[in-house]
Amino acid sequence: MRVLSGIQPSGKLHLGNYYGAMQQHLELQREHEGLYFIANYHALTTLRDPELLVRYTQDVALDYLALGLDPARTIFFRQSDVPQVTELSWILSTITPMGLLQRCVSYKEKLERGIPADHGLFAYPVLMAADILIYKSELVPVGKDQKQHIEVTQDIAQKFNQTYGEILVIPKERTLESTAVVPGLDGQKMSKSYDNTIEIFADPKTIKRKVMSIVTDSTPLEEPKDPDRCNVMALLRLVADPSERTEWEQRYRQGGTGYGHAKKRLIELLVEYFQPYREKRAELEKDPAYVESVLQDGARRARALAEPTLREVREATGMQYTS
Ligand code: ADP
Ligand code: TRP
Repeated sequence: MRVLSGIQPSGKLHLGNYYGAMQQHLELQREHEGLYFIANYHALTTLRDPELLVRYTQDVALDYLALGLDPARTIFFRQSDVPQVTELSWILSTITPMGLLQRCVSYKEKLERGIPADHGLFAYPVLMAADILIYKSELVPVGKDQKQHIEVTQDIAQKFNQTYGEILVIPKERTLESTAVVPGLDGQKMSKSYDNTIEIFADPKTIKRKVMSIVTDSTPLEEPKDPDRCNVMALLRLVADPSERTEWEQRYRQGGTGYGHAKKRLIELLVEYFQPYREKRAELEKDPAYVESVLQDGARRARALAEPTLREVREATGMQYTS
């Protein structure tokens, strides 16, 4: 099965990205043909500092490689190194109903946060559809907030096929319920844009400071607590092994355990779990030429898959190739 996903270089990657999306990506690469890319065209909708965009793009590349993305198995590339996707995006936009995009929750949420309502932000799901469809991807693993965009992609692909013939593959989405929404320090969804994240590669001191600032309620130490309504527990569940998870849930229900105890353990577990990856990342950081060569090689392989789809689409729509 061909699996594809993208992640925006709009800031430093955090535990929400890791447990919601990247962990699935890394697992799936073992058994499936994978394409993973850094969605820098998408990031342009919210980030207008070119130097920062370049830096975050490199950061995402380092993060993925350090966490175990295997470039021999998986095609790993920058979105903008396959400009064919923007051409497909235009063609798809000509058959995309306005109403389909107007219903997108993510767009409405961004407007509420004060991001200007420009065309790129509105058309973002069409570019995402092009990303998915150009490689004839079959499965798209994402966090829950992206689910609607995959549904939009399915609708666009169906409309295209009805209009021009069966060319595009209708993809399926994959979301893990267990990690659907990772809460941030304030209990809202952890997100780069809410300033409530714990970065995957934060140093141990920062991890400690951030975990200590996680918002909890004021239930006294000795009283029982609900493990399903605690932001510390939500993160502890992600990083602890199953038996330790059950033990903490019991301790919460019994009472006598404070949120401070859980925070302390969460710090230990996070520092320990990501330590080998931190070391690997430090090594990779010393070799930018290697990282660049991985991305360039990925882009070459991605273009080789994108080009035939684009040719079919051009022919079907009356945009013939002259050469
Ligand atoms: P952000 O909201 O921080 O900008 P992105 O929108 O770039 O994150 O998300 C990249 C991937 O990580 C997507 O698949 C998204 O669903 C997933 N993701 C982001 N934040 C979370 C979260 N808090 N919980 C679960 N998944 C998340
Ligand atoms: N919009 C996605 C996000 O913010 C990133 C993305 C762009 C993507 N193109 C994609 C994800 C194609 C999956 C498939 O997380």
